[in-house]
Amino acid sequence: MIDKIKQYQKEFEDRIAAIGLGDELRQLRTDFLGKKGRVTQVMKDMRELSSEQKREVGRHINELKNWIENQIREKTEKLAGSSTQGTENVFDPTLPGRTEARGSLHPITQVMEELITIFISLGFEVAEGPEVESDYYNFEALNIPKDHPARDMQDTFYIGGAKVLRTHTSPVQIHVMEKQPPPLRIIAPGKVYRCDSDVSHTPMFHQIEGLMVDEKVTFSDLKGVMNIFVHQIFGEKTQVRFRPSFFPFTSPSAEVDIQCVMCSGKGCRVCSQTGWLEILGAGMVDPAVFGSVNYDPEKWTGFAFGMGIERIAMLKYGINDIRLFFENDLRFLSQF
Ligand code: PHE
Repeated sequence: MIDKIKQYQKEFEDRIAAIGLGDELRQLRTDFLGKKGRVTQVMKDMRELSSEQKREVGRHINELKNWIENQIREKTEKLAGSSTQGTENVFDPTLPGRTEARGSLHPITQVMEELITIFISLGFEVAEGPEVESDYYNFEALNIPKDHPARDMQDTFYIGGAKVLRTHTSPVQIHVMEKQPPPLRIIAPGKVYRCDSDVSHTPMFHQIEGLMVDEKVTFSDLKGVMNIFVHQIFGEKTQVRFRPSFFPFTSPSAEVDIQCVMCSGKGCRVCSQTGWLEILGAGMVDPAVFGSVNYDPEKWTGFAFGMGIERIAMLKYGINDIRLFFENDLRFLSQF
């Protein structure tokens, strides 16, 4: 009988070690301590023994019973403390905690800051102007005639009176020149608004305006500045070309293209097989604009340029939908 008790102890030990669930533990308890359990059965069988044997076997079986009860109590506590039942895992205080997602500068802010740094190194200063503009600053003073298509309700947000949400950063040119005599070199970064929305247009986007006025500023100066900025943003080997264009506030006017960043000029879907991508508008300040701010067009010349930051960022990072910038999806934003 004592051998049997020892064998039961061994069996219990093996079974409890393999247990992962509370239900299995309850079954184990029944198998040993239940009405028909092994321990109970031994106790019943003891009736046939002499009193001498009863004492001896009784001591062993009681020890086993107490031991089993302790084992079950310990195992129950262990299972309750473990988060994943079915494994031996218990709470691990050395695991790192769940942290809040860390913020970072928005890609538009990063490109904006990069551009500002480049132009500051070329002697430009940062200027600002209001986003709610009068018709005068947004159009009139910039030589944009009353019947110009940009003035159409479909392109411009009119907000009552003669007020508009500025459609470009060019009105900052006027504000600066009204306050400051030449020579000057400024850039004006900021938000602009147009009634437009698709994969490459959002109703609000960002521009950087540039303006340099001095004696004897020429188109070559404009070309030099554009080359330096393109090479710093897109790499030394990126080619730049000027295409004749028209803006009411510059003359002559040009659109500046860079060699396609996707195919290096070979021709692909992004550049419509041309090998070139348009990045900005520019030109020599029109004498009529100098007239608006009482600068003497016989003495002073200047160049101006304006570019969309989102467009620069899309080309720089190979992003094909402008709306990604405004969805605030951390999986997108954290890549920059
Ligand atoms: N304001 C023009 C635009 O928004 C860009 C531009 C700025 C062109 C300055 C020439 C000179 O399209």
